[in-house]
Amino acid sequence: MCGIIGCVGRPDSTLDTLVHGLSKLEYRGYDSAGVALANGDIEVVKRAGKIEELREALEGRSVGGEVGIGHTRWSTHGPPTDENAHPHTDCTDRVAVVHNGIIENYQSLRDELAEAGHEFRSDTDTEVVPHLIEQHLSGGADPESAFRAAVERIEGSYAVAAVLAGEDRVFAAREDSPLVLGLDEEAYYLASDVPAFREFTDKVVYLEDGEFAVLDAGGWSVTDAAGSPVEKTVDTVEWDPEETGKSGYDHYMLKEIHEQPRALRQCLSGRVEELDGRVSLDVDVDPTAVQFVACGTSYHAAVYGAYLFQSIGIPAQAFLASEYTTSPPPLDDELVIGVTQSGETADTLSALREARRRGAKTLAVTNTVGSTAARECDDVLYIRAGPEIGVAATKTFSSQVVALTLLVERINDDDRETIAALRDLAGNVQQILDESTAREVAEEYYDAGAYFFVGRGPAYPVALEGALKFKEISYEHAEGFAAGELKHGPLALVTGETPVFAVVTGDDELARKTIGNVKEVEARDAPVIAVTDGRSDIERYADHVLEVPETDPETAAILANVQLQLVAYHAAALLDRPIDKPRNLAKSVTVE
Ligand code: F6R
Repeated sequence: MCGIIGCVGRPDSTLDTLVHGLSKLEYRGYDSAGVALANGDIEVVKRAGKIEELREALEGRSVGGEVGIGHTRWSTHGPPTDENAHPHTDCTDRVAVVHNGIIENYQSLRDELAEAGHEFRSDTDTEVVPHLIEQHLSGGADPESAFRAAVERIEGSYAVAAVLAGEDRVFAAREDSPLVLGLDEEAYYLASDVPAFREFTDKVVYLEDGEFAVLDAGGWSVTDAAGSPVEKTVDTVEWDPEETGKSGYDHYMLKEIHEQPRALRQCLSGRVEELDGRVSLDVDVDPTAVQFVACGTSYHAAVYGAYLFQSIGIPAQAFLASEYTTSPPPLDDELVIGVTQSGETADTLSALREARRRGAKTLAVTNTVGSTAARECDDVLYIRAGPEIGVAATKTFSSQVVALTLLVERINDDDRETIAALRDLAGNVQQILDESTAREVAEEYYDAGAYFFVGRGPAYPVALEGALKFKEISYEHAEGFAAGELKHGPLALVTGETPVFAVVTGDDELARKTIGNVKEVEARDAPVIAVTDGRSDIERYADHVLEVPETDPETAAILANVQLQLVAYHAAALLDRPIDKPRNLAKSVTVE
């Protein structure tokens, strides 16, 4: 949660670089934003609201400086006001700090600092940091030692960066929150995520927990908690800066929905042998049983993954990461798979750590190279979806499911039909994108007020995901159910005004039973929208049909999900919602 950026070495454009970086990080939080520039003094400009508000506040002002830091906030301590926006400063306005994460001992530090005469201007936990730095400076510490000493006092999760008056350096540190350095020829950056500076460089250094970094115009250095220099690897980012733009689409979400064919090809690339269709993955796992931990959309991919493992006879269960501590401990040889596109979700990281404490081997299925999940797990399977900026996850869900399907197929010794379906998947998704009538469905029902989504087997997580996507961006009430559960309670809510989206692919037992449940809602006059490959007779009971190409049952639900993404998108667009930045949400949730 929250995005931070720092920049040195672009004295003519420090402010523009910071604001541009913030606009690329806005997906991490968009309650308020601010910048601090060091130009002898410290100049801070910050505003409640989106980055646009900050831009307006900066208009006509000449704010310059050799070095600077910036922040876009997702509120945890205190409402989104100008005062609570970062950067936060000390009593003398000579220290400015931005922070992502939660300082757990902030109250005791705040009491101690207040007692010593420090005056606080915000409700945030972060504000203790500039005051701690101030205290160490006034005790005679040099700037770097004062920063280190302040960080040593804080407990919790943080990526923190500071600038000081009279200094042309940026100081930074991380613990349980991401921080990456960007290295250009004459400029250096730090940020919560690579898109913040990708336009300027593809050379990056990922900081580890407990590490400190100092950037100045002459270079960069990383040290460990004891102050000893750390040899870091410089990685090269493989995606283009254009991938983080909207490429002519009205919203990132729509662009990312349309990027799915490419994302799926990337996910498969080099992993399925041309000739014999064998799957090769660079992961060393052969589990006898699997536990999944994940949140939100990734949890739905995990439920799908559990179904795939069960279908080859390997016991598997998906847990909401935030509930994992109450789950049964993993058995011997049980693999715990964390599904997380960002690789930084605090609930998922904490569940994975718990799994390791319990002695399990862990695998991260993630989109983010160098993320905490990727680094901490025993093994990692990258989904290769490319950057996803829209807060609502779309292409990463499809790529997560495909990556898990590949894993299952490798363990299962490659089921030919599923492999063939995976190879066809990108083309099938493209066909849906070209021919979908989702917009017409959205036009008919976008203000119904309540929506149900149902499915069985792999269509069940897709029903959950369809409802989540719909509610988070349209703000309309939407619920997903296992189709068989409708009659055990939710059916009481179904009226002639409640659209029910039924995912029915194939013509097997699961499809027949779902159709039975669809008849139950049809009998209550509810409009039925069938998402189907036309192999069953569901169309007879449906008011609308969203077609998907016929394919293997293991992958058909991924196609159905694309139709539901489009329905959610068009409904939200008709309701004029801020689709890429839904209220109260953020892309990367780094608090538990
Ligand atoms: C919904 C959405 C969230 C995330 C969840 C987990 O569209 O994006 O529900 O899926 O916050 O995030 P990751 O996958 O980064 O762990």
